[in-house]
Amino acid sequence: MCGIVGFVGRDHAKEKIIDGLKRLEYRGYDSAGIALPINGKIEIRKHVGEIKNLEKIIGDADYDSSAGIGHTRWATHGVPSDVNAHPHGNSDNTIAIVHNGIIENYQEIKERLVKEYGITFKSDTDSEVIAHLIGVFYKGDLLEAVNKAVAEMRGAYAVGAIAAAEPDKIVAVRKDAPLVAGIGKGCNFIASDIPALLKYVREVYLIENNETVVLTKDDIKIYDEKGNTVKRDVFHVTWDADAAEKEGYEHFMLKEIHEQPKGIYETLTRRINDDGTINLDGISMTKEDIEGFNKIYIVACGTAYHAGLVGKLIIEKMARVPVEVDIASEFRYRDPFVDENTLFIAISQSGETLDTLAALREARKKGARILSVVNVVGSSVARESDDVFYTWAGPEIAVASTKAYTTQLICMYLIGLYMGSTKGTVDKELYTGMLEELKALPDKVERILQNEEDIAALAKQYHRREQVFFIGRGLDSGVSYEGSLKLKEISYINSFAIAAGELKHGTIALMEEETLVFALATQDFLYEKMVSNVEEIKARGARIVAVAKEGRTEIEKVADQVIYIPDCADEVAPVLAVVPLQIFAYYVARYRGCNIDKPKNLAKSVTVE
Ligand code: F6R
Repeated sequence: MCGIVGFVGRDHAKEKIIDGLKRLEYRGYDSAGIALPINGKIEIRKHVGEIKNLEKIIGDADYDSSAGIGHTRWATHGVPSDVNAHPHGNSDNTIAIVHNGIIENYQEIKERLVKEYGITFKSDTDSEVIAHLIGVFYKGDLLEAVNKAVAEMRGAYAVGAIAAAEPDKIVAVRKDAPLVAGIGKGCNFIASDIPALLKYVREVYLIENNETVVLTKDDIKIYDEKGNTVKRDVFHVTWDADAAEKEGYEHFMLKEIHEQPKGIYETLTRRINDDGTINLDGISMTKEDIEGFNKIYIVACGTAYHAGLVGKLIIEKMARVPVEVDIASEFRYRDPFVDENTLFIAISQSGETLDTLAALREARKKGARILSVVNVVGSSVARESDDVFYTWAGPEIAVASTKAYTTQLICMYLIGLYMGSTKGTVDKELYTGMLEELKALPDKVERILQNEEDIAALAKQYHRREQVFFIGRGLDSGVSYEGSLKLKEISYINSFAIAAGELKHGTIALMEEETLVFALATQDFLYEKMVSNVEEIKARGARIVAVAKEGRTEIEKVADQVIYIPDCADEVAPVLAVVPLQIFAYYVARYRGCNIDKPKNLAKSVTVE
């Protein structure tokens, strides 16, 4: 997690670094800091809390420079505090660093630095060792000192370093944490992610694992692990900088909920040709590969995992091959049955989630073919995959994922349909029917969004609840998990999802007078069974809000309120059913006065294990 930014140019480093940090706050926001070389010394200012707290203490005009580094933190080692905030300096602040990641052997390094050099540590962080290590190796050449420090470090890192004696230079290095270098005119940048730089540059170098980059105002040099110069193609950013702004919406989350019709449309149309075939540009998987897979693992975390729950049922139905869905942090530690006939599908919005990346590497080691579903172009998961299905959701800034989820679902349908039609397990009728259903989704989501006020009214009615349940069967069960996660992560309500048929095996004990339950009943072939499950909890006095397709009114007999979604095939209903749940979660959090885009304890990009 954490976000790093660095600038080297002619002047006003402070403004550019702060601006970049604000765009990286999604990576963590418990403290922030900046380090600028000024008059032969490095001046570090840092503050606990959001970047606006930092801005209050760096307002003075004297505090500026032509270069510097900044950081926004998500605490791993050491509580959020001024002293644990980055940047960290060496003992006399002649070196300063910012770090994203974890140094696994920091204790060992720390003990050595204390013993051999008598260094006193100021913070509880793992990162401080990097500043001291560079400090003890520094003999007037920052690149050399960083290289020596890196040789001692184990773990994951993107580090930006400056030295007081070389005030117009930044040295940065990455291993298993994202890093880009932005190419400006008479100035250059580093950052954890492209949006941090879009106000200033549209051309970047994507820095690869184990590479070091040296920036001056006129030059960017990239070196590999052995110190050889690397020639890297320039990556042109085509997406709009405005896409990362709020555009009049109160929160990014609401804006992103409203961007779903566009994201779904883009994700679909980039993969569907005029003749209705699926366009496989950039996908190297052959018919023989597809016919050879005897097992698929879908592996992801959080919301992306919930997309996998739906994906499993869709791909199994269409491609007739067993699919297992796994939480990435569990997958790698259970010695899963993976071989050359396994297709491993990683789903990740950021493409930087360490658990997902580690699971992917584990699967690759065992011979699996890797297909990923990723939103961030050029991210680590994308780069380490054999094939990538991009979700064209655009930048997702709010911590709570919305448009990434619905576009991930679209990729699940496309993958299922493609594999199924290749294997002959999806016939022409099903194929064309599904394509029509998919193409109709952007308009149908738009219709749900027009009911925003009604859903907001429900949120107002229930926002003081401290416990909410979500239930569903089949595909609705996967959507229940996502509805529940959305609510708990931004409103801090204790919400809980369970397959409706499983309720009576234990959880029904919690049902009592007025317990609030969202009952998803969008699956026609399970509708009657779902109505019976709802009856069972209604009999215990629960209060039911149902989500059902237009025209399926039977549920009104047992539900207190019903949210209707447009009629559609059962298979695509998850894309519609989740939207009212997202809106409900958003408004509940708003009525409770929560920090919606930056919920407590969370970060957008989880690059620690
Ligand atoms: C929830 C949420 C998280 C992420 C999870 C995986 O709203 O955003 O649960 O889905 O951390 O992140 P990615 O998709 O970036 O791998």
